[in-house]
Amino acid sequence: MQTLFSIACNRWDPEPDAVLQDEAITALEGGKVLLLPHLAFPLPQSEQGLLSPEFLGGHAKNVSLGPDGQIKHSAGADEQREALRHLMERFARQATTLVSSLFPRYAASLERARTSYRPAEIAGRAYSPIKDDTRLHVDAFPTRPMRGRRILRLFSNINPHGKPRIWRVGEPFEDMAQKILPRVREPIVLKNWVLAAVRATHGVRSPYDNLMLGLHDQAKLDDAYQKNAPQAEVSFPAQSTWLCFTDRVMHAAMAGQFVLEQTFHLDVAAMAAPERAPINVLEKMAGRKLA
Ligand code: SIN
Ligand code: FE
Repeated sequence: MQTLFSIACNRWDPEPDAVLQDEAITALEGGKVLLLPHLAFPLPQSEQGLLSPEFLGGHAKNVSLGPDGQIKHSAGADEQREALRHLMERFARQATTLVSSLFPRYAASLERARTSYRPAEIAGRAYSPIKDDTRLHVDAFPTRPMRGRRILRLFSNINPHGKPRIWRVGEPFEDMAQKILPRVREPIVLKNWVLAAVRATHGVRSPYDNLMLGLHDQAKLDDAYQKNAPQAEVSFPAQSTWLCFTDRVMHAAMAGQFVLEQTFHLDVAAMAAPERAPINVLEKMAGRKLA
């Protein structure tokens, strides 16, 4: 199983030729993880002190920065939190430039969503199965309906001690859905409207959102699937960058510390091969419209 597609680029504003653009988009939309082993996000000396889990507030997994510039779940003195916000803003800008340069056809509809800083070691953290990202899953969030839009995420390993981030990458989306979809139970339609009306969700959840969340939960809850499904361990070296559609790629983060992550949302219509979007795969399997 070929899970990675490597690109030998070391700039955040690359100028890929047409051949590389084509290969990269085919790999990305086809469910591979794009690895840029030579693209680091270096921190100047003045920011090195921010490499510590002490800047993570409360029980949160990540510090997060909204596209509106609001930082959440950070801890520390005002000055340090402001420095962290600056660092994350810079990362968000560079990530946006990179994705727009590698995939010019996405640029117009690429929506910058949350940025996160993940300073805690993953290995050894204890969570309930559904919150446990060391279990293989596709990303789907209960409060953030996507109605078919894509979730594209870009990660940079900024570990100062040379420690890689270790993932497991699972089987193709279609294979996973064949196994898990028959078990997914949909909530009654009315519940989605009630959740939206009381503002528990940002907008109304579509059948697509229910099925995706069902796939996320059922895969994580299935110990046999976690153990026996086709999978490969992947190591993302310190000072490398990678990206994938996390709503399609089955992934689990097993170990590592200090990562920056940028989430983008993308319209299916911007894709080179829209038939590979999970919504189109699931609509075909379900035989009905899902959003
Ligand atoms: C995830 O998206 O499940 C976690 C990825 C990571 O933090 O490396
Ligand atoms: Fe995930």
